Amino acid sequence: MQKTAVLSSGGDASGMNAAIRAVVRTGIFRGMEVYGVHHGFAGLIRGDMEKMSVGSVADIIHRGGTILQTSRCEEFHTEAGRIKAARMLADKGIENLIVIGGNGSLAGAYELSHLGIKVIGIPATIDNDVPFTVSIGFDTAVNTVIGAVNSIRDTASSHGRVFIIEVMGRNCGQIALAAGVAGGAESILIPEVKPDISRIVQKIERGLKRGKRHSIIIVAEGAYSALKLQQELEELTGQETRVSILGHIQRGGSPTAADRILASCMGKKAIDLLAEGQSNQMVAGIGSRVKGIPLAQVLKAVKEPELEMFETVHILSI
Ligand code: F6P
Repeated sequence: MQKTAVLSSGGDASGMNAAIRAVVRTGIFRGMEVYGVHHGFAGLIRGDMEKMSVGSVADIIHRGGTILQTSRCEEFHTEAGRIKAARMLADKGIENLIVIGGNGSLAGAYELSHLGIKVIGIPATIDNDVPFTVSIGFDTAVNTVIGAVNSIRDTASSHGRVFIIEVMGRNCGQIALAAGVAGGAESILIPEVKPDISRIVQKIERGLKRGKRHSIIIVAEGAYSALKLQQELEELTGQETRVSILGHIQRGGSPTAADRILASCMGKKAIDLLAEGQSNQMVAGIGSRVKGIPLAQVLKAVKEPELEMFETVHILSI
């Protein structure tokens, strides 16, 4: 009987539980034994894992976070740590490992493939910065941001204030882009595009001329300091400006239907690939249209920002 372990790693993302559920149940359906590893790669190094059953993943499809818990593990960055992790699996006769996480976690999975483990990656990160795919957790995070933008727009409009809303995304502006378009923001700043403060000022001033006193500016955390921008805008426009940093609220909450569907289909596909004898792949796609692509190809690529959306925000807020 094939033995497969599953772990979640890096920043959590809503929908990870739906993916774990799909891996466990499809694995059992395909006649495998499935083991859940606690605390990501840190738990793998310690051999902290348990055999999963159909019942152990009951009632989790709607829950944010990850029942397996997660970590960012320094020891796994060392060769000695990775050898320990591979040995833990080998000692238990586990040949397959499914890693649910972002770019760093997928790179970790690839490293283990060099030590004889058959790995499959499932992209899960609110940053949505994994190439060739939509990542689990992104849709929920964007919807959370939109909820916040809607509420902030009410108070911004009542007080006639400029609001700077900082969203997550260290190196990647995907959340800001999506929330900018869907939330009707006046301006956005993303790490991939050089900040142009004069363009934001012009927007605010043009709004003021036609009697519009409030503005929503969405800033990705890696793009510009929200507090510096607040000071600059108050000085340059004379408009009262407030900052709202959304932070980790974006990482939790019940996953949207889109994230549950994506996670369920990706989890099932991960097992199907292993059952077909494939490995060293990442499951990629959107909705139910998912397929395996070589992990090596994913790790060599960089996700291009959707700059068209940047322009869309600018044009729709003239
Ligand atoms: O990896 C996703 C992410 O939420 C980033 O957007 C953010 O910069 C980072 O994780 C925060 O990490 P931590 O929760 O470890 O502070």
